[in-house]
Amino acid sequence: MAESEGRDHVRIVETLLLPDEAATARVAAALAADPALRHAVIELHGELGAGKTTLVRHLLRALGVSGRIKSPTYAVVEPYELPGLDIWHFDFYRLDEPREWQDAGFRDIFASPGLKLAEWPEKAAGYLPRADLVLTLTVRDDDSRMLTLQAQTATGWALCQRVTDSAAGTVSA
Ligand SMILES: Nc1ncnc2c1ncn2[C@@H]1O[C@H](COP(=O)(O)OP(=O)(O)OP(=O)(O)O)[C@@H](O)[C@H]1O
Ligand SMILES: [Mg+2]
Repeated sequence: MAESEGRDHVRIVETLLLPDEAATARVAAALAADPALRHAVIELHGELGAGKTTLVRHLLRALGVSGRIKSPTYAVVEPYELPGLDIWHFDFYRLDEPREWQDAGFRDIFASPGLKLAEWPEKAAGYLPRADLVLTLTVRDDDSRMLTLQAQTATGWALCQRVTDSAAGTVSA
């Protein structure tokens, strides 16, 4: 991947229409199929109810997480351990004290290998490392969702390609 390091990943933005939750599940399955996901930092943007947790749930299931997958709205983080893969699902909506970031040891988590998924990353702005992939969900009038994928690193670029390749033939806007 070193040779693609110099690319301007910031400009790589793809947009997909997700007519229903099944389409969200297909995006999650495509992401889960890529080995690059194992060390990725992914931000999930979008208003309340946009579908961030839903996407993460499908992603965790596709990776092999069984049992209940709770929204981390109250706990801020929910950790998952799979064989050879640590995953942290964050929801920073309730993070209002910057000190909380230090006290909770989040800095150590982001310095560790594994997959980090962050809902409401704007609430932790200034603390989070640069995300590999920025996902933004927008609710449309007919309740379908628009998903934009913005790659910011070579890892993010690989993931973005994987999703758009898997969605080839689906309507995009
Ligand atoms: N592609 C889709 N098309 C239509 N409905 C969807 C789609 N994806 C998710 N949904 C529905 O939208 C709702 C999204 O809720 P979810 O908890 O995932 O939102 P959220 O973005 O995590 O909200 P919060 O900011 O409160 O954490 C769920 O009811 C889900 O079934
Ligand atoms: Mg959520």
